[in-house]
Amino acid sequence: MTITFIGHGYVGLVTACVFADFGNKVWVIGHTKEKIERLKKGDPIIYEPGLKELLQKNLKENRIHFTLDYENAIPESDIVFIAVGTPSKKNGEASLDSVFEVAEKIGKHLKKGTTVVSCKSTVPMGTNNKLKALLFRVKPKNAEVFIASCPEFLREGNAIYDTLNPDRVIIGSDSKKATDALTELHRPINGKRVITDLASAELIKYTSNAMLATKISFANFISFYCEKTGADVETVLNAVGLDKRIGRIFMDPGVGYGGSCLPKDVRALIKMGHTLGIDTQFLDGVKSVNEQSRKNLLNKILKHTRDKTISIWGLTFKPNTDDIRDAPSVFVIQELLKHGYTISVYDLAGIANMRKIFADQLTYHVSPYEVVRNSSALVILTEWNDFKQIDLKKVKKLMRYPLIFDGRNIYEPKMMKEAGFSYFSVGRKPILK
Ligand SMILES: NC(=O)c1ccc[n+]([C@@H]2O[C@H](COP(=O)([O-])OP(=O)(O)OC[C@H]3O[C@@H](n4cnc5c(N)ncnc54)[C@H](O)[C@@H]3O)[C@@H](O)[C@H]2O)c1
Repeated sequence: MTITFIGHGYVGLVTACVFADFGNKVWVIGHTKEKIERLKKGDPIIYEPGLKELLQKNLKENRIHFTLDYENAIPESDIVFIAVGTPSKKNGEASLDSVFEVAEKIGKHLKKGTTVVSCKSTVPMGTNNKLKALLFRVKPKNAEVFIASCPEFLREGNAIYDTLNPDRVIIGSDSKKATDALTELHRPINGKRVITDLASAELIKYTSNAMLATKISFANFISFYCEKTGADVETVLNAVGLDKRIGRIFMDPGVGYGGSCLPKDVRALIKMGHTLGIDTQFLDGVKSVNEQSRKNLLNKILKHTRDKTISIWGLTFKPNTDDIRDAPSVFVIQELLKHGYTISVYDLAGIANMRKIFADQLTYHVSPYEVVRNSSALVILTEWNDFKQIDLKKVKKLMRYPLIFDGRNIYEPKMMKEAGFSYFSVGRKPILK
């Protein structure tokens, strides 16, 4: 098949490379000349494990092509995926500006014959119907177009694996032609198939992200009780998770969820609720606990640091990505700067993106050891594997005071006591030296 992706971010580029790797001819349309030139040369722009190699392999095989021009790609495509961003507007609503802008361009370039347009971007219920109306309005008379919602569930950091092995492939459409074409395209991909209508497909995506956010906020909510009573959150959740009706997966207490999806999708679902006349207290609570989790860690830092020179390990919203959108680190750093802190930071992939926000307000390091030199406290905000068995003796020697605030519970308190640190984590008794 010949397929096109509009958007070359974490969803568009990864999925495009995977489908090219299966032998399809794949076009990727962008809107920035400089980025398209970099992609043509094999630079994926974003960091995602294995992506550079997959991109370069498929460029060499002449299966993936990058362009700014719809005319090059759309007329020959069987399936066109919309994979542009749908960020939050100020009021929390999902911004659909890019989705409608690209849909109009797709529609105008459709050829005689049949094309399936499939929306991978996360969009509110009803959007695909609006896209359908738009495409019908702008398409040439002799072109036939069918619309499908094919929401994406990949996890940044595991995106290639997840694209090949999703738990489920959702295809929402009222057209058999669209469903058949997408079913055929996904044939080499593992996972259960769910064939459904447009609105259900759209809501499946929001429901999944709202549930994931709920699990994290629930764990954090319980951690507040632990901190007030001396209970240990990991012991509590491990025991609770043994109940098969509940389980333990994704109930990790910490500094809260972040990233480009969970926060914005929770906000968008709340906003949809308001429009639909639904009481959103439940999701308001999920969002509020997330905000409290960030503040909780911040307050511990403000209360227990001995001076204002500190270091941070981990800036990205989770490990194995360079994505810092809505990351807890951004909030914590902004607040600490307001309080006059001098901050040195280290991350394995997020430094370049962090510089775009904080420029010279921070000192950036390329070593997890150098960053802690002379600092009065270390704050851990991302659970990169590299921190889990790091030489803590060396860290302690370099620091002015052996004080750690761990927003991800990556160490055992007992171990930190033996290593001679004061140690504040989430929902567990602090270790005070
Ligand atoms: N990142 C994830 O983990 C993930 C997972 C599942 C679903 N999603 C959803 O998929 C969608 C894309 O997410 P992402 O993380 O890949 O976003 P992203 O910001 O990484 O990439 C968006 C892409 O869209 C392009 N774009 C924006 N406006 C455009 C326009 N007018 N014309 C052409 N290209 C344009 C950008 O250049 C960029 O390449 C969003 O709706 C997101 O909610 C993301």
